Amino acid sequence: MSNPQTYRIAVIGGDGIGPEVTAAALEVVRASGVDVATTAFDLGAARYLHDGFVLDDATLEQLRGFDAILLGAVGPAIGDTRIPGGVLERGLLLKLRFGLDLYVNYRPFRGVKGSLAEGCEFTIVRENTEGPYAGEGGTLRYGTPHEVATQGSVNTRFGVERCVRYAFQRAAALKTPKLTLVHKTNVLLYAGDLWSRVVAEVGVEFPGVAVDYNHVDAACIYLVEHPQRYGVIVTDNLFGDILSDLAGAVTGGIGYAASANLNPARSGASLFEPVHGAAHDIAGTGKANPLAAVSSAVLMLEHLGETEAARRIARAVQDFDGDVAVLGTDGVTEELLGRL
Ligand code: NAD
Ligand code: IPM
Ligand code: MN
Repeated sequence: MSNPQTYRIAVIGGDGIGPEVTAAALEVVRASGVDVATTAFDLGAARYLHDGFVLDDATLEQLRGFDAILLGAVGPAIGDTRIPGGVLERGLLLKLRFGLDLYVNYRPFRGVKGSLAEGCEFTIVRENTEGPYAGEGGTLRYGTPHEVATQGSVNTRFGVERCVRYAFQRAAALKTPKLTLVHKTNVLLYAGDLWSRVVAEVGVEFPGVAVDYNHVDAACIYLVEHPQRYGVIVTDNLFGDILSDLAGAVTGGIGYAASANLNPARSGASLFEPVHGAAHDIAGTGKANPLAAVSSAVLMLEHLGETEAARRIARAVQDFDGDVAVLGTDGVTEELLGRL
């Protein structure tokens, strides 16, 4: 029998509830029998306020070399104005996504008991390196009555195609293979046309996948009223950001929603993080739901090829029927450990 592999995991606990939920996730991973050697990286709002450091190129290169990165959440408390908007979002999170070429943001949802989407399973594949997030634009005559602000959207044939192909691959693996492009092709003519043509062309490679299209505004109705219509949703970076908070809300709450920022080409580490933020309002109270972080760790194990451990933890999460609000972070974690 070969020795079990030890995976080198970079851990960015971050701010607020980030360190609490990543610690819980790692405890569950270890209990599943997977051997991880973790290296902590002190990054986020607290670090920035301490010494002004966000993320330099040397640290980015160091992170690239790990088997995976597990991130809790970064950001200051809402209302804390000491950090200008964008410093951490662009300087840390987007620098990681762009710098490590994490071009797919994979966000699976499963409606928990009592939620609007109870029993439904669907996935959002969000393009993660382009669109409005690319940062194209600028200002002219700043602060004057004649100020100009432009904010473009970058959509490359290459970038859209690789994301769409990934989404089709995921859709093809479903029991009922279905892919829905969500966009706003009636208004965003240039980008919408490119996305539509790419979906039609790549779709030829996946004849078993039913293809559908929804405008993003209508998708907001369907996600609430008829979420069972979806299998895989593929969409642009900004639409995917907004839709995934909505999807989190209808499937039980943001405390359950997991994500994988993937570099499917594996030219560097991929990054796994809950969809939720630092939630300073409940940090340190023991109330944070660790399930989103645990499910993000499941996605990490799947990516690492530890499918059996991933399946066991996913089943424990799925079977979890305790009251998160009553049990709190530690209680939920204990329950999971007992079910592995
Ligand atoms: P948030 O997700 O932190 O919190 C929104 C609400 O959801 C809060 O009421 C919070 O208590 C609750 N919540 C979030 N996660 C929960 C969990 N696991 N269990 C129980 N309740 C939970 O969003 P926000 O308040 O808009 O942002 C707070 C900070 O986090 C900001 O600085 C923001 O920029 C940052 N943020 C970071 C990320 C990230 O690191 N990926 C994502 C979103 C927001
Ligand atoms: C998310 C977050 C990030 C995003 C922010 C914090 C930059 O909202 O991961 O969904 O907009 O992508
Ligand atoms: Mn978001």
